[in-house]
Amino acid sequence: MKLHGFLTTLLAIIATTVTVAAGYKLSSRPVLRPMPYNSRMPFPNPPARDSKVCVVNTHGDGVTDDSFSILFALWDCNDGGHVLFPRGETYTIGTALDLTFLKHIDIDIQGRIQFTNDTTYWQANSFSFIFQNVTSFFKLGGEDVWIYGDQNGAAVCRARTTPNDARYFGDKKERLMTLLSDGTIDGNGQVWYDTYAANIYTLRPVLVGIDGLRDSVLSNLVLRHSPQYYHFVANASNVVFNNIDIAGGSTSKNKASNSDGWDTYRSRDVTIMNSVINNGDDCVSFKPNSSHILVQSLSCTGSHGISVGSLGQYPGTFDIVESLMISNITMRDASDGARIKVWPNTPSAMSADLQGGGGSGRVSNITYEDMRVKNVDYAIEITQCYGQKNLSLCQQFPSELVIEDIVFKRFSGTTASKYEPLIAAFACSSDKVCGNITATDIKVKSPKGKRQAYCLNQVTRNLDVECTSNYKGFN
Ligand SMILES: *[C@@H]1O[C@H](CO)[C@@H](O)[C@H](O)[C@H]1NC(C)=O
Ligand SMILES: *[C@@H]1O[C@H](CO)[C@@H](O)[C@H](O)[C@H]1NC(C)=O
Ligand SMILES: *[C@@H]1O[C@H](CO)[C@@H](O)[C@H](O)[C@H]1NC(C)=O
Ligand SMILES: *[C@@H]1O[C@H](CO)[C@@H](O)[C@H](O)[C@H]1NC(C)=O
Ligand SMILES: *[C@@H]1O[C@H](CO)[C@@H](O)[C@H](O)[C@H]1NC(C)=O
Ligand SMILES: *[C@@H]1O[C@H](CO)[C@@H](O)[C@H](O)[C@H]1NC(C)=O
Ligand SMILES: *[C@@H]1O[C@H](CO)[C@@H](O)[C@H](O)[C@H]1NC(C)=O
Ligand SMILES: *[C@@H]1O[C@H](CO)[C@@H](O)[C@H](O)[C@H]1NC(C)=O
Repeated sequence: MKLHGFLTTLLAIIATTVTVAAGYKLSSRPVLRPMPYNSRMPFPNPPARDSKVCVVNTHGDGVTDDSFSILFALWDCNDGGHVLFPRGETYTIGTALDLTFLKHIDIDIQGRIQFTNDTTYWQANSFSFIFQNVTSFFKLGGEDVWIYGDQNGAAVCRARTTPNDARYFGDKKERLMTLLSDGTIDGNGQVWYDTYAANIYTLRPVLVGIDGLRDSVLSNLVLRHSPQYYHFVANASNVVFNNIDIAGGSTSKNKASNSDGWDTYRSRDVTIMNSVINNGDDCVSFKPNSSHILVQSLSCTGSHGISVGSLGQYPGTFDIVESLMISNITMRDASDGARIKVWPNTPSAMSADLQGGGGSGRVSNITYEDMRVKNVDYAIEITQCYGQKNLSLCQQFPSELVIEDIVFKRFSGTTASKYEPLIAAFACSSDKVCGNITATDIKVKSPKGKRQAYCLNQVTRNLDVECTSNYKGFN
């Protein structure tokens, strides 16, 4: 962080430390109920930390930067304390905060936190994550960190949101709801959606940037209007995301692009569960070196599905995504349900700022089960020709990134009409680099009641839909 005005600010707004915070009610730590699966590692379960409480001061005017009081409260209560953002208070963050020092701490967000709209400051000062120009407002790391809102915050918010208006969020009801709900973290995304539309090289911060977080829990949070991804999860192990409510579209003609729910990178033993996501890109995406990730009991609306990749984008890299369990997902109004996207071994371009091909690695031991789709272009889409429109060229230069041991089972519902009569696509660049894929109990139908799948170098077993070479495109 930039320590300008450090001393005067320190004296002026140092956080209040109290033994028993009179008039404040601490949230109790959320109870984590993993359904239908337990994670491989036991969930963190540290002793209570309610004896030292740091209440965070705020200017509360929605403009003046409260970063220093936040930082001081976190320093003061680190290693054993409970930081409280009280109910009804609003906080403004206008300084990039390095929060990788956190350990053994509870952060109880009953109020509302908003980042400033100063795109010039943030582009110059946000944290860089090496991977794909990702940057973030703050960098969260450390060990045994619990961050949570009120038990009811996300649930109350969700009860008042109907799926139909959920994609736009421009209306008064949504603004009121966001103001009332507890544990809201707001990225002030509109200015970023508009700036990005004017210049696609704008560096938009992700809302929650994680680097090196262990044995930690984020729960009962309401996340709104991220400039791009909601979470980028790097170098994490044994981290649980529970009861997270994500939404926030654009009120102008410029879309809220790349608003992925979670992207995991160089991480293992991450659990994402019991959450509701309304966004415009991947609901969850697994980037290079993600393993033992459990994703379950999510409701995703408006997304690009739950996606492995894209992988193999950069020559000379070896990307591994393995041992994922994705279970009990409702997927609405999306381009895809389950998706695996891998670049071929030839230079290819999706768009001016998305090009790749030539990387190697493997995607293996992935299970997608119990997915209900509604108005989704493809219930399942596997492609090893990502970004390459010329499928002959893709087959001439098969991917160096192997796809194997993949299971899809118990899919139901109806697709959108975009690829009618197709409900799925299984496109391998060669049967030498793609194998042991099974798809069973796939009950999904197209709007006209058809059940066909586009197959290229068909290797899928038990495929209980009809394979065709009738190519209608990829997402
Ligand atoms: C940025 O936020 C400030 C303070 O809330 C507001 O006055 C200003 O209009 C906003 N600017 C933009 C471009 O939204
Ligand atoms: C993750 O950890 C590696 C190894 O310590 C480090 O080089 C890298 O900067 C960290 N962050 C990301 C985003 O990869
Ligand atoms: C990163 O940003 C630079 C400069 O804006 C751009 O040239 C490059 O294509 C970007 N890289 C990725 C992976 O988006
Ligand atoms: C992923 O893991 C492989 C094998 O350990 C390694 O070669 C590669 O550099 C890793 N990639 C990243 C992005 O960490
Ligand atoms: C599936 O997820 C829904 C929430 O989306 C939850 O209510 C239900 O209990 C979950 N079912 C199982 C078997 O875990
Ligand atoms: C396959 O993935 C599942 C789910 O993450 C995991 O439980 C299992 O141990 C993995 N199997 C192997 C052989 O790694
Ligand atoms: C597609 O690739 C094939 C094989 O490399 C090539 O012969 C053909 O000309 C390409 N087609 C187009 C339209 O570029
Ligand atoms: C095929 O994949 C399944 C699921 O990951 C795995 O259990 C099985 O061992 C694999 N079979 C072969 C022959 O590799």
